[in-house]
Amino acid sequence: MNQPVNAAEYAELAAATVDPKVWCYFEGGAGDEVTLRANVAAFGRWRFRPRMLVDVSERSLATFLLGTPVSMPLGVAPFAMQRLLAPEGEIATSRAAAAHGALMCVSTITTIPHRELAAASDGPRWLQLYVLRDRQRTLDHIAEAREAGYTALVLTVDLPLLGRRERDLRLGFEVPADLPLPYMRGVDHSTTESLQEHFQTTSDLRWEDLEWIAAESGLPVVLKGILTREDAVLSAEHGVAAVWVSNHGGRQLDGVAAGLDALPEVVDGVAGRCEVYVDGGFRRGGDVLKALALGARAAFVARPIAAALAVAGEDGVRRLLGLMRDELDLALGLLGCTAPDQVSRSHVEPVLPYDPPA
Ligand SMILES: Cc1cc2nc3c(=O)[nH]c(=O)nc-3n(C[C@H](O)[C@H](O)[C@H](O)COP(=O)(O)O)c2cc1C
Repeated sequence: MNQPVNAAEYAELAAATVDPKVWCYFEGGAGDEVTLRANVAAFGRWRFRPRMLVDVSERSLATFLLGTPVSMPLGVAPFAMQRLLAPEGEIATSRAAAAHGALMCVSTITTIPHRELAAASDGPRWLQLYVLRDRQRTLDHIAEAREAGYTALVLTVDLPLLGRRERDLRLGFEVPADLPLPYMRGVDHSTTESLQEHFQTTSDLRWEDLEWIAAESGLPVVLKGILTREDAVLSAEHGVAAVWVSNHGGRQLDGVAAGLDALPEVVDGVAGRCEVYVDGGFRRGGDVLKALALGARAAFVARPIAAALAVAGEDGVRRLLGLMRDELDLALGLLGCTAPDQVSRSHVEPVLPYDPPA
């Protein structure tokens, strides 16, 4: 294959080159992978309503996410253990994101410490937080991210228990014993069946805990993994800075709504009280516009980044982000808009089942 020209081609190349025992962890979802497929399929059920005779000769994708300036409303979702895909791991991804001025959300399960990412490049970064059973370790972790210049804390709330990912079990995925996981120090390495033991994440987090997390961190808190109006309302009532609609890339509870499908009710629930982001199955720049039209302020991607990282390291991620940015810019102009905040509900409509006239 020549240079990949889109995210799907990076995924194809990665699947053909990465050891299947490793790639299964990045590619797979939970259970029957119904939600994994639904994430991508959801975009096919919305179509654009472009407006004509609008001057789109000057366009800008730049926006602010919780006051952080970013070059586009598309960021890098947190995903674990990037050194399994490329020797530089998160350093490669963070340099590529920084080169684009795109936001990177760094996983708690990063293989590179935050201060090393900060030293390697200067880009907008947020911390994705898993609360560990050892709360002091969690507080130390937050402090380290703050010192490294991270400007928000993304608390992942959809992993009280680890989803059962059968591809990992089938192929025997294991976290290599020598893989550094600086914020999981001192934990025994083991197979996915006991990954949760391995990661020592807590199962007893509750809404009340948001208070100490917000107070101790001093950073705006984003809740990642919200899928319902009820939880959107609670999030806003607890004063979070943003809600991130996500089903964890179909890796947790199989059978939940696609990210895009859950977005409208969450937007409705927060009723303008905080920002809303979304992820799950975004593979084209145009997909991001559909999310903006349905009320999101930004979208995030994980697997396309993982694939590009595996195929060509930092250059791969830089190229992939460039491709998606160009698609986004082109679609924005063809839609008749010149900036993300011009995209509104009137720019999309659902594709209804064909109902021929009698
Ligand atoms: C291999 C992999 C590892 C992930 N690790 C994390 C993680 O450490 N923390 C987290 O909040 N989400 C994690 N996620 C979920 C992503 O942040 C994101 O919600 C989801 O993958 C987006 O869907 P996409 O992969 O279709 O773009 C992971 C996803 C994948 C594929």
